[in-house]
Amino acid sequence: MILVVGAGGLVGGLVTRRLLREGWPVRALVRPGADIGVLDAAGAEVVVGRLRDQTTVAEAMADVGTVITTANSALESGAETPEATHLTVAGNRTLIDAAAAAGVDHLVFTSAYGADPASPVPFLAAKGQAESYLLERGLRHTVLAPDLVMEVWVAAVVGEPARSGGAVTIVGRGDRRHAFVAAEDVAAYAVAAATRAVGSAGPTGGPVTGPADGPGEGYYLPVGGPEALTWREVVAIHERVMGRPVRIRTVVPGELVPGVPPHLAATLALLDTYDSAIEMDAVSAAWGITPTPLEAILRRQLDLVYS
Ligand SMILES: NC(=O)c1ccc[n+]([C@@H]2O[C@H](COP(=O)([O-])OP(=O)(O)OC[C@H]3O[C@@H](n4cnc5c(N)ncnc54)[C@H](OP(=O)(O)O)[C@@H]3O)[C@@H](O)[C@H]2O)c1
Repeated sequence: MILVVGAGGLVGGLVTRRLLREGWPVRALVRPGADIGVLDAAGAEVVVGRLRDQTTVAEAMADVGTVITTANSALESGAETPEATHLTVAGNRTLIDAAAAAGVDHLVFTSAYGADPASPVPFLAAKGQAESYLLERGLRHTVLAPDLVMEVWVAAVVGEPARSGGAVTIVGRGDRRHAFVAAEDVAAYAVAAATRAVGSAGPTGGPVTGPADGPGEGYYLPVGGPEALTWREVVAIHERVMGRPVRIRTVVPGELVPGVPPHLAATLALLDTYDSAIEMDAVSAAWGITPTPLEAILRRQLDLVYS
């Protein structure tokens, strides 16, 4: 049995449906109030509960060999605050403890690119602390560290204003490159990490030396898309797909961005200080995953709008 935590979310939903399509038995842990109909109809066994609810999480581990978590409990309190960090860390510790107590063989943890326990960004600090706790507990694990998810960041910063005819706001110069990744690709890497056979090829083409090797082993996989793009290139791709120009306005780092909560505007300012190109060719070839370009996602979305 594979337990998916965060199955009510974007990536977790894709992970759940992909596993079910491939024929794996799946239990989905979702929070109260989530729409469980889709998961239920797809064939998942649904358990309702919160990550920090020790009893529910322990019960959800029955007969589970592998856990995939895509939960993002930083969002639970609605903001990136020290409290949100605390909630995330507490929730993930409960999950990791329950998995260890139940003798789970492998935990696939969805972290974030740049996560670090000492990060000044609460979200990245929380993810980094959870990664450290995984190592400390000695559970066999894979850490997936996605860069910016296209459907979340590109949609919020460029897609929504561009489609409504407004101006796209770029923080700073907007010429740093980031490896925007499609949610379906993150899901594909999570499923591959969880299900590929022991001893199968790892991302470098050689045998997996991390999760396949035994208790306490960990494997870290940064997850990016097929190309590292600047925000200005992201706008240009929208122009090409929509067939019309998109206005750009720039603000200095630290200024508020319309439609974007202040803590995300701070992240946009941070993104203007470094590049994050992630080499995925070896792992995508070894795991048989074809990375999805941004243009393909946008064309699909456009088809949906006009179909
Ligand atoms: N978006 C990005 O650019 C990005 C970048 C790097 C890493 N990531 C990470 O990738 C993962 C997947 O992202 P996503 O876009 O799929 O996120 P998402 O749509 O927000 O899904 C996260 C899921 O976690 C669930 N969850 C949150 N707190 C929980 C709790 N206490 N107990 C049980 N479930 C809880 C949420 O439940 P509800 O539906 O009930 O709220 C939601 O279904 C997240 O861990 C995120 O931090 C995302």
